[in-house]
Amino acid sequence: MKPQPEVIVCVGTGGVGKTTVSAAIGVAAALKGRKTLVLTIDPAKRLAQSMGLKSLKGIPTQIPLPNPDSAVVPGRLDAMILETKTTFNNLIRRYSKSPQKAEAILNNSYYQYVSGELAGSEDYMAMEKLYEIKNEYDYDLIVVDTPPARHAINFLTAPNRLIQLISSGVLKWLVRPSMNISLLGLNILGRAPQRVVRLLKNYVGLEIVEELAAFFSEFEELYAGFRARAKDVQSLLSSKKVHFYMVTVPTHDAIEEALYFYSIMKGFDITFAGFIINKVHSVFYDSDALRAEVASLVHGLGSDDDLRKAAEETLSMDRLALRDARLIDYLKARVRLSRIEYRSIHLMMDRELTSIDALVELSKTLEGI
Ligand SMILES: Nc1ncnc2c1ncn2[C@@H]1O[C@H](COP(=O)(O)OP(=O)(O)OP(=O)(O)O)[C@@H](O)[C@H]1O
Ligand SMILES: [Mg+2]
Repeated sequence: MKPQPEVIVCVGTGGVGKTTVSAAIGVAAALKGRKTLVLTIDPAKRLAQSMGLKSLKGIPTQIPLPNPDSAVVPGRLDAMILETKTTFNNLIRRYSKSPQKAEAILNNSYYQYVSGELAGSEDYMAMEKLYEIKNEYDYDLIVVDTPPARHAINFLTAPNRLIQLISSGVLKWLVRPSMNISLLGLNILGRAPQRVVRLLKNYVGLEIVEELAAFFSEFEELYAGFRARAKDVQSLLSSKKVHFYMVTVPTHDAIEEALYFYSIMKGFDITFAGFIINKVHSVFYDSDALRAEVASLVHGLGSDDDLRKAAEETLSMDRLALRDARLIDYLKARVRLSRIEYRSIHLMMDRELTSIDALVELSKTLEGI
């Protein structure tokens, strides 16, 4: 039997079903007896909806499971929503030398800006939270939903990116220990290299530059802690226990995007486990002979015959299913790796994906992932 992953990270572009698939993987694992957590960072809180809950909390909350297979004792399914800000605040508290120092940073308006707005801080905090949960709880499996990938590598580089920005030469220049904060007024900025000024303008706006200086001097003592932590997070992501799955849908553009992101991810030291192709149309007729038979039947019927309309609908659904299958074959041919998995999830058309039962149905093709 293949080794079971301890963490599954679902990545992919916007709207392909990362949140839904993460929840369904969680359901599949829990129904197989594993103690599972789904960590979602979906700001739209769709996971909560799809689990029939109005909102999720920033701490694990148990989701009641149905028990369709009474022979297997279900495990446990918890879900939680990532609160970027709270995670960041906890990190500051963890690495500050004293509670007072921590408060000084937490109350700094530049910090409040960085922790909420800085591009990528959400990715960073997702991986940070994953690390924290992995160490502090004893889940058999943690499934991580991710924000839509503008660049698939965001969350892979995230642990280092924030630290790089904070400790970059440019910003360090602002916090030389000898530097008096009052010197950091517009005078200095007037003489500062253009890119410092640009950076500050872009990130913070000149008016809070004093707060910025205070922030960096407070923050300096946290560097070592942050750096060590980032290394630990990075090595968790590189471990064989963490499996990355790319979620995509069978449209030409989505498959091309998935291939592009896959080509980037290949360059990282991670376990790329496979593709999950979501919203796949189901084949209606299982042979070409049957298709031809139905098509000729359609021809023989009057144009306003209800039977004809229904048959035409099934034929066109079937055509979509065949097109999906061709796109999936194309994906496989381009990837050409036998050890990765491909799983398809059918497009659910008859009901809304807002109940646990719907997730149970979707989870069937995700078993054993
Ligand atoms: N297999 C499916 N059949 C039918 N509808 C689906 C299926 N999978 C997902 N959906 C629907 O598609 C929409 C997008 O799904 P979801 O929110 O999971 O995508 P996402 O990739 O997490 O989106 P985002 O990038 O915005 O976070 C939702 O309305 C969801 O209910
Ligand atoms: Mg989502």
